[in-house]
Amino acid sequence: MNYIEASGKLASCGQEHLLAYWKELSKKERSALLEQIAAIEPEDLRRCGEALGRDGNVPDSSKGKAPKVARLRGTALLKAIAAGEKELRKGRVAALLVAGGQGSRLGYDGPKGCYPVGPISGAPLFYFHARKILARSIRYGAPIPFYVMTSEANNAATVACFEENDYFGLDPENVFFFTQGMWPGMTKDGKVILDAPGHIFMSPDGHGGLLAALKRSGALADMKKRGIKSVFFFQVDNPLVEIADPAFIGHHVLEKSEYSLKLCAKRDPYEKVGMPMRFGSSYRMVEYTEMTDEQCNRRGKDGELYFKYGSPAIHVFDRAFLEREASKPMPLHLAFKKIPALENGKVVKPAEPNGYKFEKFIFDILPNAKRAAFLAFEQKDEFSPVKNAEGSDSPDTCRADMRSKWVGWLEEAGMKVPPDMPVEIDPVYALDASDIKSVGLMLFN
Ligand code: UD1
Repeated sequence: MNYIEASGKLASCGQEHLLAYWKELSKKERSALLEQIAAIEPEDLRRCGEALGRDGNVPDSSKGKAPKVARLRGTALLKAIAAGEKELRKGRVAALLVAGGQGSRLGYDGPKGCYPVGPISGAPLFYFHARKILARSIRYGAPIPFYVMTSEANNAATVACFEENDYFGLDPENVFFFTQGMWPGMTKDGKVILDAPGHIFMSPDGHGGLLAALKRSGALADMKKRGIKSVFFFQVDNPLVEIADPAFIGHHVLEKSEYSLKLCAKRDPYEKVGMPMRFGSSYRMVEYTEMTDEQCNRRGKDGELYFKYGSPAIHVFDRAFLEREASKPMPLHLAFKKIPALENGKVVKPAEPNGYKFEKFIFDILPNAKRAAFLAFEQKDEFSPVKNAEGSDSPDTCRADMRSKWVGWLEEAGMKVPPDMPVEIDPVYALDASDIKSVGLMLFN
């Protein structure tokens, strides 16, 4: 793209100001700016502008009903496990991790997946995810390809972390990194923001950017080539997640679901988790910020919270469903933020929010699923995210929850664990209590 083409494109969408400093730019800066302008889709800008017009309109969730949530026990559980194990043995399951976030709440400088969460080893979050995938694929004798979404800001450091650690034992052939997209920031009146005379401010397009990125990178085609049917989705911050859990995969397959969600009972009415609700015959995720006080506190006849179950963002998708959704535009969510911007040719870091970032959320495809399934599980067993530096959902609470889970397995195998004894278990050594029972005592005796 040259200057004339760029100015024509910008004029057609009311963004001519992006070339205001052209005369002051070096050759290198000019070509970088032209590259950014070439990458911008006018249709995306139009959608951003449209979303600005809707800012402040919270979608009405007052008619939402609680979904029917399955709790697997006895034969139903055994049936689901058998169905899931069959999928795993046939190599029809993939793991999909979204790790493009910035982890700003944790205050960690680097990809969140590199955060040293291991209570004794200081091993990173990625270690626990990768080792579980390895252990599960050894158990079922078939690879579970691992797709990792990064962002422009953390891709190189993420790949380096895997390389330095020999992919945590995984075969690099079965690990696929791909990078999510970026969206330009905008002022209230729809003008794209320059954060330097020759540079447009861009930010990651949210975990919903996953769909476009899966398609663009060839990851979806790779899944198809490998014969993948079910895609287990999880977030980087939760080392307790049971990746490719056979019961969940099996339930998803038996229910012929296109989008299945694991849900857990909220710890308190205001816990900051999304809440799937039923609207007629389809479902939609309602964020905690959209719920009214009445909805948060409503009780059923049994005295329990009516909207009892929250989403820890553990999903299984049908691969064909992801393919169907990948080319559709997704809703945009706005965040009003402090964005460095040019004022009279100088970069200013504002004290107050001055512009919008746009994000897509993966759960916005839930209403499009022809069939959805919801499965309950115990929060303490599978969900303890590292989100904040201190207090709830922090490294301390997460390490304590990891320890309790492992101690539970050791006790099931008949061992006594002193209260102050540090504990850490490599997932390849034991994926659950049954592994400890079969091999564990040999080592400990
Ligand atoms: C999210 C969910 C919430 C859920 C909770 C469970 C949203 C809006 N909310 O909240 O419903 O109950 O997790 O822990 O998602 N990510 C990217 N690219 C991005 C942004 C995020 O890959 O551009 C990834 C992060 O790396 C992380 C995950 O998405 O793995 C979640 O992001 P985060 O910002 O931590 O979500 P929460 O607000 O905590």
